[in-house]
Amino acid sequence: MLSEVLLVSAPGKVILHGEHAVVHGKVALAVALNLRTFLRLQPHSSGKVDLNLPNIGIKRAWDVARLQLLDTSFLEQGDVTAPTPEQVEKLKEVAGLPDDCAVTERLAVLAFLYLYLSIFWKQRWTKEDLELINKWAFQGERVIHGNPSGVDNAVSTWGGALRYQQGKISSLKRPPALQILLTNTKVPRSTKALVAGVRNRLLKFPEIVAPLLTSIDAISLECERVLGEMGEAPALEQYLVLEELIDMNQHHLNALGVGHVSLDQLCQVTRAHGLHSKLTGAGGGGCGITLLKPGLEQPEVEATKQALTNCGFDCWETSIGAPGVSVHSATSLDSRVRQALDGL
Ligand code: MEV
Repeated sequence: MLSEVLLVSAPGKVILHGEHAVVHGKVALAVALNLRTFLRLQPHSSGKVDLNLPNIGIKRAWDVARLQLLDTSFLEQGDVTAPTPEQVEKLKEVAGLPDDCAVTERLAVLAFLYLYLSIFWKQRWTKEDLELINKWAFQGERVIHGNPSGVDNAVSTWGGALRYQQGKISSLKRPPALQILLTNTKVPRSTKALVAGVRNRLLKFPEIVAPLLTSIDAISLECERVLGEMGEAPALEQYLVLEELIDMNQHHLNALGVGHVSLDQLCQVTRAHGLHSKLTGAGGGGCGITLLKPGLEQPEVEATKQALTNCGFDCWETSIGAPGVSVHSATSLDSRVRQALDGL
């Protein structure tokens, strides 16, 4: 039983290089951002557990007594490779969702119930717990876009800066604390359709597309090398190399067919301020990242953010290399986060 407020957070993440190529066995570099999503678990005396996910408009409640009576041993059966249809059915029964509930909402509720029924009471997660969280997050990814590489769930779970290739993960030892802009073009897109589009283009033009994937792989490796050097002694020349890599990868991603006019606009607007950007993740809209060089004056950063906002985009300034999914005590939280949670 929950006796005190428990706070859990997970980082936002971006792929620096290697999106799409990673689906085809190439290297990707992914980093966790210092922009986090928080979950607050708070005890109260109504005898119910209430779920409130304001960003996606979900409010549901279950009787705690009923949940406690449930046989949750089905969640503990060995390794989680893929949830069996029976396990999902059982979680659905517990969730009691209406038939017309949207898929994303259904998944959010099922993921919550899974955490609630199995691991929420722990104050510190072990490596095994994190592996389990990572595996469940991967299954969520599979439902959302069919054939995920696993890079997104891995970086959200483990945090920091990761090199990812075919399920093999290694952490970059001392990644530099790069400052970036994360810009959401707000153009909706389907990761599943974009991943399938790249596959089709590869099948249609193997001689043209395979070298692009090989080149993206080389960009990821070069970026990893430069980040390694920067961890020791960052210098402006290295930022210039990172900018060149960003530009080359952005052109490759356009050639793979995952660009979008909104992303072109993002690149042009930041270029006018002397900054370099690329899409991050699936492309076709969605988000882009812009590298902020050291020594850039804050008014220039603000002017760039304003120019992007004027295009109708959302823009955040943040840094890379944040911790992965974490449990917090209420007192350890930043006052702004506490206020935001209290305002819900
Ligand atoms: C999506 O964030 C990243 C892709 O490479 C897909 C994947 O790795 O699963 C496009």
